Amino acid sequence: MPQRPGDIHDLDPQDFLEEVHSFEFWFQAVEGYLSGTTWGHNPATKEEELSEGDRDQLISVLCNYCVGETAALEASSGLIAIAPNRLSKVFLSTQVADEGRHLEVFLHRLRELGVTDPEAEVEKRASNSLKLFKKRLLELVESKDWEAAILAQNVILESLEFAVFHNHSRDADPVTAEVLKGIIKDERRHIGFGENELGRCLSGAPHNKTRIASIRKELDHLVFDTLHQTIGHLGLPRSDEDTLGRLYLESVDRLGISG
Ligand SMILES: [Fe+2]
Ligand SMILES: [Fe+2]
Repeated sequence: MPQRPGDIHDLDPQDFLEEVHSFEFWFQAVEGYLSGTTWGHNPATKEEELSEGDRDQLISVLCNYCVGETAALEASSGLIAIAPNRLSKVFLSTQVADEGRHLEVFLHRLRELGVTDPEAEVEKRASNSLKLFKKRLLELVESKDWEAAILAQNVILESLEFAVFHNHSRDADPVTAEVLKGIIKDERRHIGFGENELGRCLSGAPHNKTRIASIRKELDHLVFDTLHQTIGHLGLPRSDEDTLGRLYLESVDRLGISG
C-alpha cells in the first residue's frame, strides 16, 4: 500500500480500515519497536537479581501469560477461516504472527529465568479458570460464532491481558518490563480491531446484543477468577485486583454490552 501523507484518521472509514488492517501497516508498526531487540528486549538490558520468591512468582505469572497467548494464537488462526471479509482475514493473519511472537518471547523469558522445560512448567502452573477460558474460546471458534469469538478473544481476553500486562510492566524487572511493553503495543491493536469489528456487527444486527451479553456474563466470571489468581501470583495488594477489574470493565463496557 502506498504511503499516504497526513494522519490516517483523516481517511474515510473504508480507506482507514484498508490501511490499519493491512500487513504493510503491521510491519511499519512492529518494526518501530522490535528492531534491535532479541527475544522482545534490548540485549544490553541488565538482568536484575531476583530473590527466589520473586523469581518463583514471576515464573507462575509468565506461565499463565503463555496460556493466554496460546489461546489467542490458536483462536486467531481458526478465526481466519470464518472471517466475513478479506480485511478481517488479513488483520487476523497479522494477529497470528503477533500472538506466536508473544508466546515465543514469554517461553524464552522462562528459559532466561532458569526454567529448563517451559512448556511442562506452563502445564503445571496454569490456572484452571484461564484453561477453561481457553477451552470456551476455542469452542466458540469451532462453532463458527464470529461475533461471540471476537468478543471472547479481541475484547475480553485482550482487555484482560492489556490491563494485567500494563500493571505488571510498571514494577517488573527491567527485562520483563521491556518484553511486556512491546507486547502491550500489539494487544492495543488487537483490541482496536475487536471493538471496531464487534461494534459494526452489533449495530447491523442489534438483536444479537442479548446473545452476546449472555456470553460476556459467562466469560466475566472466568476473567475475575483469573485476575484473582494473577494478583495472588504477583503478590500484589488486593486493591490492585479492584483496579484491574475496573480497567477490564471500562474496556468491555465501551461496547455497551451489559452482562
Ligand atoms: Fe498476545
Ligand atoms: Fe493479542
